[in-house]
Amino acid sequence: MLHRIAALIFLVLAVRCARAARLPLVETLNDRPVIGILTQEVRDPSLRPYGGTYIPSSYVKYIESGGARVIPIRLNQTIEEHEKIFRSINGLIFIGGAVDLETSDFAHTAGFYFRLALKANDEGDYFPIWGTCLGFQLLTVLVAGENLLSKTMADNISMPLNLTSDARASRMFKSFPPELFRALSEEPLTGNFHHYGVTEQVFVGNEKLSSFFTILSINQAENGAVFVSSMEGKKYPFYGVQWHPEVNRFQWNPHYTFPHSKNAVQVSSLLAQFLANEGRRSSHHFSQPEEESQALIYNYNPVYTANVSAYEQVYFF
Ligand SMILES: *[C@@H]1O[C@H](CO)[C@@H](O)[C@H](O)[C@H]1NC(C)=O
Ligand SMILES: *[C@@H]1O[C@H](CO)[C@@H](O)[C@H](O)[C@H]1NC(C)=O
Ligand SMILES: *[C@@H]1O[C@H](CO)[C@@H](O)[C@H](O)[C@H]1NC(C)=O
Ligand SMILES: *[C@@H]1O[C@H](CO)[C@@H](O)[C@H](O)[C@H]1NC(C)=O
Repeated sequence: MLHRIAALIFLVLAVRCARAARLPLVETLNDRPVIGILTQEVRDPSLRPYGGTYIPSSYVKYIESGGARVIPIRLNQTIEEHEKIFRSINGLIFIGGAVDLETSDFAHTAGFYFRLALKANDEGDYFPIWGTCLGFQLLTVLVAGENLLSKTMADNISMPLNLTSDARASRMFKSFPPELFRALSEEPLTGNFHHYGVTEQVFVGNEKLSSFFTILSINQAENGAVFVSSMEGKKYPFYGVQWHPEVNRFQWNPHYTFPHSKNAVQVSSLLAQFLANEGRRSSHHFSQPEEESQALIYNYNPVYTANVSAYEQVYFF
């Protein structure tokens, strides 16, 4: 009898252990992440002759350097095509640039993907979005439902980040080694190229923004205004930086203050790897391998533009 009870207890414990062991099961990761880059209308007159929409190659190299692949997302596609692309990619980048945050095709298309991403994440379908510079601003417009930008000129200047107390434990920065994290707040590792931004005061005062995003850093503009320079979603894997991590490794025009120090390069590398890692958590995939091959950026060639713009190379569509 005692033996039987002991055997039963053992069995119950064994089953419990097995179940418990299942709980922390490592999430199945997708080691072939594909990140979409939303193309943007060409506004720069010197680039107009080459095409209607573009992606600077620095963003493509940045994502590839993190261990992910890129597909360009054209603006002129049908709703059905965009929905299909969304189901095929593992994350999205909104690039910097200069188009209207509410009326441009770039903004409309970004809004469409943004709403799909909100819904997907709500349903447990992990989908990261990263916004850089104008892309950061766009995320604030999409979340707030209004344009909250004001003049926060910081153009062609590199700055240390004024990190908030939430930065160290943030998803964006927690993998930074302590020395690099310190350097981020002491050395000019972040290149700024913007005229507008969201001030800390407006951000904190806006219920929609402040409940959606955690502020990770602030900076001061030439006019003294303090703007939010890095943020991450509290609930959603959405990230924004008002500065340009991609320039640290992939833009070299000597007339601009692109940070190229060892630490600047490492900041750029770690954030690119971070985005790829976020993409690994998405299980979206193309329905056919041929569809994936045809969509990848490898089907396109960048154009040499160093003699007509600040970009060395640009993809045109
Ligand atoms: C979008 O533009 C490209 C290149 O101009 C063209 O090949 C494609 O058919 C267009 N797609 C739509 C849906 O208009
Ligand atoms: C960082 O923020 C603090 C608090 O607002 C402020 O006192 C300090 O001057 C800021 N430093 C920089 C470098 O912006
Ligand atoms: C950018 O800043 C650097 C350093 O301050 C300066 O030498 C350069 O002329 C500036 N470039 C432009 C395009 O304003
Ligand atoms: C820029 O360089 C490319 C490649 O060498 C050349 O084809 C093009 O004509 C140049 N454009 C200008 C405006 O100099």
